[in-house]
Amino acid sequence: MDRERGTNGNRVFYFATAPQFFPVIVERLGASGIARAGQGWKRVVIEKPFGHDLKSAQALNQSIHAVFTEPQVYRIDHYLGKETVQNVLVFRFANGIFEPIWNRRYVDHIQITVAEDIGIERRGKYYETAGALRDIFQNHLLQLLSIAAMEAPANFDADTVRDEKVKVLKSIHPIDVASDVVRGQYGPGWVGGQQVPGYRQEVNVSPTSATETYVAARIRIDNWRWAETPFYLRTGKRLPSRASEIAIQFKNAPHLPFAKTAIQDLNPNVLVMRIQPHEGASLKIAAKIPGPVMRLRTVNMDFFYGSSFLIESPDAYERLVLDCLLGDPTLFAREDEVERAWGLADTIENGWAAQPPSDFPNYAAGTWGPEAADALIERDRRRWRRP
Ligand code: BG6
Repeated sequence: MDRERGTNGNRVFYFATAPQFFPVIVERLGASGIARAGQGWKRVVIEKPFGHDLKSAQALNQSIHAVFTEPQVYRIDHYLGKETVQNVLVFRFANGIFEPIWNRRYVDHIQITVAEDIGIERRGKYYETAGALRDIFQNHLLQLLSIAAMEAPANFDADTVRDEKVKVLKSIHPIDVASDVVRGQYGPGWVGGQQVPGYRQEVNVSPTSATETYVAARIRIDNWRWAETPFYLRTGKRLPSRASEIAIQFKNAPHLPFAKTAIQDLNPNVLVMRIQPHEGASLKIAAKIPGPVMRLRTVNMDFFYGSSFLIESPDAYERLVLDCLLGDPTLFAREDEVERAWGLADTIENGWAAQPPSDFPNYAAGTWGPEAADALIERDRRRWRRP
């Protein structure tokens, strides 16, 4: 290859195996010498799951660093390769009008959703050891949270951006698992007109499994930008539809000089950044219904990738593999980022371990999750969006 293609000894070692082999492979790459051999750069891409908890993630980081230095390590979170996720950064930091209102003074709360209509497909064996907390919350959801909440980086260097993301994770208020986190598991139900089995009936799943397929959490961030503005995160399998989004709900106008009858159907301003599907963004604003009487209604200002650009977005993996070849780790998770995220997941996992779920399955496939998740947000006089 080097002779034919001029690859110059450059190597990417891509780990997409079962995770128990990651330390073995890295150790053998080191021992065999090919991790350092000859000229050219050597890099390693690690698929998820990167560890199972904080301790195992630290151990894995240690085995990798025995052979590769941190700048050679590319930990994949494919959400970061999504155009729409990168666009959140552009939306926030290339437009002058959003940043001044992106804080506790104007934002009532933020909802981040990764909803899936699929079940666990044929991954029962893996999913039984993971659950929604490890499968999506620890990585994709916390990545979205970091990007939505971070301060403006001074530039787009890999470490400058990741420093800001890590600061968000460091600022998360200690989680009170009993009151701020809800877990769920789907039972049989209907999704998209089809009858589907419950989680415990899936292949390679224990009929008494206590694994969660749904997590919702209320997160508070202790810094000047976000004190008092809660973030509500949720993810689940077998929900009614597939929808990932970040929704910024702004505070109400301080005073409405309109007759009560005119404003029956008015919702607060919400900026929704749709990660997928219907990729784009929309802003809910109040508008006057045409006619002789003053009546107001909420309407959407919409941006759709499809109609604005008329080109296919690259797949998340295409972008990430290219970045790795070019040596740009901005869109990959850094060591400290992964460990912080595991620290949070561990807090939740430990809280749960002390109190095994007694009500599983607690939501029917094809519904928006357990009642307790509604209660979690409704006690703050707010409601989950229906994406
Ligand atoms: C993966 C999870 O990381 O992300 C899956 O392991 C999940 O369980 C998938 O279905 C979701 O990715 P996407 O790109 O379809 O939102």
